[in-house]
Amino acid sequence: NKAQAWSALFSEPMSDLVKRYTSSVFFDKRLWAADIQGSLAHAEMLHAQGILAAQDLADIERGMAQIKSEIEAGQFEWQLDLEDVHLNIEARLTALVGLAGKRLHTGRSRNDQVATDVRLWLRGEIDELLLLLKALQTALVDVAEKNAETILPGFTHLQVAQPVAFGHHLLAYVEMFARDAERLIDARRRVNRLPLGAAALAGTSYPLDRERVARTLGMEGVCQNSLDAVSDRDFAIEFTAAASLVMVHISRLSEELILWMSQSFGFIDIADRFCTGSSIMPQKKNPDVPELARGKTGRVVGHLMGLITLMKGQPLAYNKDNQEDKEPLFDTVDTLKDTLRIFAEMAGGITVKPEAMERAALKGYATATDLADYLVKKGLAFRDAHEIVAHAVKTAIASGVDLSQLPLQELQKFDARIGDDVFEVLSLRGSLNARNILGGTAPAQVRSQVARHRARLI
Ligand code: ARG
Repeated sequence: NKAQAWSALFSEPMSDLVKRYTSSVFFDKRLWAADIQGSLAHAEMLHAQGILAAQDLADIERGMAQIKSEIEAGQFEWQLDLEDVHLNIEARLTALVGLAGKRLHTGRSRNDQVATDVRLWLRGEIDELLLLLKALQTALVDVAEKNAETILPGFTHLQVAQPVAFGHHLLAYVEMFARDAERLIDARRRVNRLPLGAAALAGTSYPLDRERVARTLGMEGVCQNSLDAVSDRDFAIEFTAAASLVMVHISRLSEELILWMSQSFGFIDIADRFCTGSSIMPQKKNPDVPELARGKTGRVVGHLMGLITLMKGQPLAYNKDNQEDKEPLFDTVDTLKDTLRIFAEMAGGITVKPEAMERAALKGYATATDLADYLVKKGLAFRDAHEIVAHAVKTAIASGVDLSQLPLQELQKFDARIGDDVFEVLSLRGSLNARNILGGTAPAQVRSQVARHRARLI
């Protein structure tokens, strides 16, 4: 029983309410594999340093193997009385192997133990997230490749601006997710440092070999200040910030998918298996997945706010506040993993409707800039050309036609230098092809970006 965990000092048991309030085992049991991994590395080092007998190490290893299989089989009895994952596992170890179990905690505190566990766990999750981000990028590149020539109205202020290739538009998201991956890789370097050896806050008098434990655990180094080691949660905040950006990018994409699927746009359809119906309106098919993803973005950003606020008033070193880091972190990871998985699948279930996209592009005088550029090539200054084209657009609006539908003689009234070659310039396709510059929307550029991403995403 847990009253004993703190010793004889306590004269009465903890109240039930406080027990429930302070215990974390029902969520932090999720760290069990990291906890065992960290303990084994610590025990192995204790032995190598002559602090733990060979027999004790063997007992600990045997006990931990047993505990691992009990947990995996769902037979481990997690006890609220034992507060958290660390005390639960240690108590079971001692029940299984006796004295060796009681020796495991030599030179260690739960403060450096929990910081180590969270880091080990998060490192593994980051690696999974990187794979999922890659899969999503690949799925988007696949759709982009098929749509290098598909014309979409590009918007600014949600007003038709210039035609862009649908593939080009999707590759913008691939860039965002690529930066997200870079951020996660960078954050991982700071996650992957070892707190063990900091003990409660001041380090320990045992001759521990911290570098050895770091190597065993595949960590990139040890935390260099014991106070910082046990109290730093920057790594979690930083991760959640990177995760928030992933969700913000997902949310922007979601907003577009929702708009594009609405009847007013009608640019795409999303496969039925990603949509839901209505219990009252029989005609409805709703894009629930992107809507939910947009909503869950608020949840992850909320976790970022929670974690950063958790840290702001904490004096050095460890405070129990830090126990509150886990649920937001766990939920962030779960939300991100589910969302990335479903989006990678959904990307393949998008049907593109090129005629609708093109019709919409034709409605907004999307090639007006091309006409201005054309006049500049004929010798006009850009500002003058801009003004002339504004007049032409005004006339076209009055007649309810596109610029390309005005007859040549009509166009020549705006500037005599306009010739027959203007109609290629005024076409959506001509406009697209003209932007053949690095990073531009011309199909040739889209294809070369697709190739670049493919090489990067192997
Ligand atoms: N469950 C605790 C946490 O999550 C473990 C560390 C507790 N340390 C302590 N001194 N109470 O932070």
